[in-house]
Amino acid sequence: MTKQTKNEEQDNSEVPRHIAIVMDGNGRWAKKRILPRTAGHQAGVKAVQKVLKRCGERGVDVLTLFAFSSENWRRPVEEVHVLMELFVSTLEEQTETLHENGIRLRFIGDKSAFSEKLQQEISNSEEKTKNNSRLTLVIAANYGGRWDILQAAKKIARDVERGTISADSISLESIDSRLSFPDLPEPDLFIRTGGEYRISNFLLWQLAYTELYFTDTLWPDFNEKSLDLAIEAYAGRQRRFGYTSEQIESGYLKQEMAR
Ligand code: FPP
Repeated sequence: MTKQTKNEEQDNSEVPRHIAIVMDGNGRWAKKRILPRTAGHQAGVKAVQKVLKRCGERGVDVLTLFAFSSENWRRPVEEVHVLMELFVSTLEEQTETLHENGIRLRFIGDKSAFSEKLQQEISNSEEKTKNNSRLTLVIAANYGGRWDILQAAKKIARDVERGTISADSISLESIDSRLSFPDLPEPDLFIRTGGEYRISNFLLWQLAYTELYFTDTLWPDFNEKSLDLAIEAYAGRQRRFGYTSEQIESGYLKQEMAR
């Protein structure tokens, strides 16, 4: 069964299984308070805690957060430095709590560019929480959707070179299974805070059929209520996956699934 079929099975359930968030607006939140941008990122971590807790209460299975894009290295050196320190300290301080709450932590992105210390913290937290199954928290760090597709393409090219697959047999599934989280469902709901209407090279392939939700709320102000509002908006959408609304309403999709 392909991942898209799995998502179609989920179709119009009221609570998304997988929510992916671009946490935008930390800098502006800080600027409004005449604080350094980095204070906005610190406040952003508190918002992560609130949203994670609410996701657990609402029965969301996977929460993917865009913590640092491949392009974020272009920011002022000092800001990048503070963000890296924040990742290390957050992991040091929060891994135990995540573990106690049954949360599995996973990272996607090119980790090789991070300091030894951060790479070590990442692998410690992944290892410690690997058997938890209540909720999976995916942190996209030094991640880019194009990078993800590129690394999948390289894996396919290597398999063709080795002769394990033929060029003609390459399918959507071949790409899907080589992306960063092949075993997780595709996001049902994408949220971007901070009033911008962009995907910004987040999960490009995986967002193909995801419901998009944008809010002006700056990330540090995003809380349990904000998440409930996003889930409410999602519940009001009809996911069609290319079918007509008449087909969906007549239960055609469910009959197809049962075949
Ligand atoms: C975008 O806001 C935010 C980031 C690039 C960093 C997000 C990181 C966190 C919230 C920390 C999370 C940490 C963990 C461990 C999950 P911006 O700076 O672009 O805001 P602006 O558009 O207002 O300038």
